[in-house]
Amino acid sequence: MERTPHSGRRTVGLTAGFAAAAAVLCAGALTAPAHADSTLGQLAAAKGLYFGSATDNPHLSDTAYKQILSSEFGQLTVGNTMKWQYTEPSQGRFDYEQADAIVALAEANGQTVRGHTLVWHNQLPDWVAAVPADRLPGVMRDHITDEVTHFRNRVVHWDVVNEAFEEDGSRRQTVFQQKIGNGYIAEAFKAARAADPNVKLYYNDYNIEGVGPKSDAVYEMVKSFKQQGVPIDGVGMQAHLILGQVPATMQRNIQRFADLGVDVAVTELDIRMDLPRTEAKDTQQAGDYSAVVKACLAVSRCVGITVWDFSDRQSWVPSVFPGQGAALPYDENYAKKPAYHAIAAALGGTGGPSPTPGTGTCSASYRVTSQWQGGFTAEVTVRNTSSGPLGGWAVTWTFPDGQRIANLWNGEATTTGSSVRVRNAGYNGALGAGASTSFGFLGSSAGAGRVPSDIACDRP
Ligand code: G3I
Repeated sequence: MERTPHSGRRTVGLTAGFAAAAAVLCAGALTAPAHADSTLGQLAAAKGLYFGSATDNPHLSDTAYKQILSSEFGQLTVGNTMKWQYTEPSQGRFDYEQADAIVALAEANGQTVRGHTLVWHNQLPDWVAAVPADRLPGVMRDHITDEVTHFRNRVVHWDVVNEAFEEDGSRRQTVFQQKIGNGYIAEAFKAARAADPNVKLYYNDYNIEGVGPKSDAVYEMVKSFKQQGVPIDGVGMQAHLILGQVPATMQRNIQRFADLGVDVAVTELDIRMDLPRTEAKDTQQAGDYSAVVKACLAVSRCVGITVWDFSDRQSWVPSVFPGQGAALPYDENYAKKPAYHAIAAALGGTGGPSPTPGTGTCSASYRVTSQWQGGFTAEVTVRNTSSGPLGGWAVTWTFPDGQRIANLWNGEATTTGSSVRVRNAGYNGALGAGASTSFGFLGSSAGAGRVPSDIACDRP
């Protein structure tokens, strides 16, 4: 597979759910395990995509932060200081000093840069709202021209227009929408293309990760841009997600945009939870991150993933959603969370150091959580039944009635005929005395999803 940060990956796309599941189950047999010390950026690059992080200027004075930012990621997004408020604070006075500092850091580290963002209703200086309607198109064009020209050959993607739609798919009534009208988005893309013929031009928004009214509206816009020759290269799905709510349609949605002839990037990924963190929430979050990475990996035109900063210490979430947070793969002290190891595992890494097996004992309970004609989902809870720590576990059972696993999360499955063995993932093997964790799967079944009678848990 070849790494092409500017455009769609050249790879054989896995589009069918069962093909993807089969690849997951057979991965160990097909690919050599990546070195345990590979960074997320390196693991992603080996799969033909980038894995990056947003950052902001004030964070760079923290040495520990800067060290991780510089070494772990293949791509950086300038989280604030490329926005209009910073780059053209008064009309015609352009200031790129802070953005330049982040771009220079990325260049020194060999990281690519996503430019964020040229036209957005937020972090817009007051003077723009006061521009008369007949002059606003020219003002918008001048802003885009100056900024895109300044960063020519230094950024690989531009988020040209950000968050222009409401949840119901109608246009957000921004100053640009109200004064210029529906055509402002196309005009912005044309201005960006005129300023740089090579940079990839993206439309970027949140809550467009799954199929729904908002992503439908963006889909129709991209389709019409392609028909009319408006220069658009990609769609950025921000992916500010909520624990346990990764849209089931995410892979299908990425695929339908790709089928229009544009790239897709996951541009601002974080997965927030109600505080405080617990082991169970961390495990759920790890599975959620894994699901997002797998959805992107399954579509060849999904070119990369960016987390919206990497550590809970810098996350924007708690200040906007009081009582929520812990949304990122590193904790507030820069320790890697289960989410980090799940991302690494989904990208083909080892999923972290294998825990030592310990001496404990465990139990497993199997529950069918939903079923329908031909399919079911099940959840297996693993509990450390000893008074000491358990370093890893393996659950075995035999499927009745020709059932089989289509897709499994939070564990690693091997199957031989109807016999199944699921061992812990790299991030959920260690269980304290009395603690529990769970894994789940989507199954196919000829009859009802009956509970196996021989489920057992042991150390691996
Ligand atoms: O720079 C000032 C500082 O001088 C002042 O002391 C401080 C006091 O609050 O505010 C600082 O500005 C803050 C700025 O971030 C830089 O830290 C603003 O108040 C704050 O509102 C701003 O928040 C940013 C937010 O966009 C604005 O909407 C977040 O950092 C940034 O992460 C966030 O990013 C957005 C993406 O651009 C688009 N998608 C959603 C995403 C999350 O909201």
